[in-house]
Amino acid sequence: MTRVAVFPGSFDPMTNAHLDVARRASGLFDRLVIGVLNNPKKAPLFSIDERVELIGRSVADLGDHVSVDAFDGLTVNFARSHGAGFIVRGLRAVSDFEAELQMALTNRKLAPEIDTTFLMTALEYGYVSSSLTKEVARFGGDIAPMVPGPVAAALVERLGQDARV
Ligand code: PNS
Repeated sequence: MTRVAVFPGSFDPMTNAHLDVARRASGLFDRLVIGVLNNPKKAPLFSIDERVELIGRSVADLGDHVSVDAFDGLTVNFARSHGAGFIVRGLRAVSDFEAELQMALTNRKLAPEIDTTFLMTALEYGYVSSSLTKEVARFGGDIAPMVPGPVAAALVERLGQDARV
């Protein structure tokens, strides 16, 4: 049986915490599709095409069974469109749990055949978030430990000279 999973998120931008979860999931599933939500309600720093491209470069060494795709609408519909039986989400701290439980139970109600699987982020990335990384970059802090190389370069380019890597 081929085990297919989707790893959905906003990824604005992908962090090392996301990459760590993608790497762990790539070892567990036959196919892993990283799904980048195109949310018209949010004004992201990076466009949907930029986010897909940055993730593609960041996960290039994980293997051909890992791909990246943009999606609109419900995660469960995205999962079904890829024939996925699993949704992957990362947990950094207990504080992530409540919202993730609510999402997992909502998704189970919508699609009982799809299970959400949680992977614990490596301890060293437990503090990393996309929003704080953008803030650090904006004020010139060192973001190199927080994001993959291609993302760090894109943040510096987008947020200006002040953002040192
Ligand atoms: O990276 P994020 O912002 O924590 O990811 C949240 C995401 C994209 C997984 C979540 O917002 C989502 O699944 N959105 C799609 C809409 C949807 O399916 N909503 C109902 C289930 S929560």
